[in-house]
Amino acid sequence: MINQMMTVVQKRTIAKDTVEMVLQGSTISFVEPGQFVHIRIGTGFSHMLRRPISIANVDGQEQTITVIFKVIGQGTEELQNVSIGSSLDVLLGCGTSYPVQGLELRRALLIGGGIGVPPLYYLAKELRKKGVQVTSILGFQSKENVFYEEEFKNLGACHIVTDDGSYGWHGNVNTVIDSEQIPFDYFFSCGPLGMLRAVSTKLIGQPGYISIEERMGCGIGACYACVVPAKDGKGFRKICKDGPVFPAGEVVL
Ligand SMILES: Cc1cc2nc3c(=O)[nH]c(=O)nc-3n(C[C@H](O)[C@H](O)[C@H](O)COP(=O)(O)OP(=O)(O)OC[C@H]3O[C@@H](n4cnc5c(N)ncnc54)[C@H](O)[C@@H]3O)c2cc1C
Ligand code: FES
Repeated sequence: MINQMMTVVQKRTIAKDTVEMVLQGSTISFVEPGQFVHIRIGTGFSHMLRRPISIANVDGQEQTITVIFKVIGQGTEELQNVSIGSSLDVLLGCGTSYPVQGLELRRALLIGGGIGVPPLYYLAKELRKKGVQVTSILGFQSKENVFYEEEFKNLGACHIVTDDGSYGWHGNVNTVIDSEQIPFDYFFSCGPLGMLRAVSTKLIGQPGYISIEERMGCGIGACYACVVPAKDGKGFRKICKDGPVFPAGEVVL
C-alpha cells in the first residue's frame, strides 16, 4: 500500500447519482483487481476518515486508475464536486485482491450488485487477458442506475437485472442464476451484504470469491470498525486488511 497525491483527470456522470472518475498518479502498476483506494476527502478536521472506493480499471500506460462511486452522503458528494485538475490524497492498493494469476479456470461467473459492480470490471478484463470466458450478471435497482453494460458486453455475455423490472431481467441476480444455468469454474461476487448472502447460499459448495464493501474506519487494520466473524468460529476477519476479497464461505455474512 502506498500513499500518493493523484490528479483528477476525468469525471463524468454515468448513471443516476453515479460518477466515474479517473485519477492519475506516479505509481499504479502494482494494483490488483479487487483492491480499493482509500481517499481523503476535505481538509483539516472535516471528514477525518477516508472513504474506501474499489478500483474499476487500471491503465498502466497512462498511469491512471478509474473509480466509480455512488453519491450517498456528504463524503461522496464532496468527492463528486472535486474539479478536474485537483489533487486527491489517496492510499493506493489497499486490501486483498481476487487471486486471478493463482487460479486454474476456463469459465468465470461474475455477479455484481449496484456499487459492487465496479471492481468486477477490472477483474473481468484481467480474466479475459488470461483467456478465461467471462459471463456477468449485474443487478441494479432500476434502469436509471444501470452502468457499464456495454463495457461488460465487450468482454463476454452480460445479463442485466433490475429490482423493478424497468430494464433487463425483472428480479435479482439469483433470478438469472436460476433461469440460465450458466456453467462456471469459479464465481466472483461483489455487492451489498444481502445480495452476497443470497448468492453464497445459492452457490454453496461451489468455488468462488466474494468481496465485501461494508462501512470502514481507518482502512488499515487499526480500529476494528470493519470486522466480520469467521465461519470456522475462530475469531474475526477485518474487511480492510484480511479482505475485502474472501474465499466464499470464509466469513459469516
Ligand atoms: C472495500 C470497499 C469498497 C467500496 N467500493 C465502492 C465503490 O467502488 N463505489 C461506491 O460507490 N462505493 C464503494 N464503497 C462504499 C463507499 O465507501 C461508501 O458509499 C462511502 O464511504 C460513503 O461515504 P459518504 O460520506 O458519502 O456517506 P456517509 O455519510 O458516510 O453515509 C451515508 C449513508 O450510507 C451508508 N453507508 C456508508 N458507507 C456504506 C457502505 N460501505 N456500505 C453500505 N452503506 C454505507 C451510511 O450508513 C449512511 O446511511 C466501498 C466500500 C468498501 C468498504
Ligand atoms: S477499518 Fe479499521 S480495522 Fe478495518
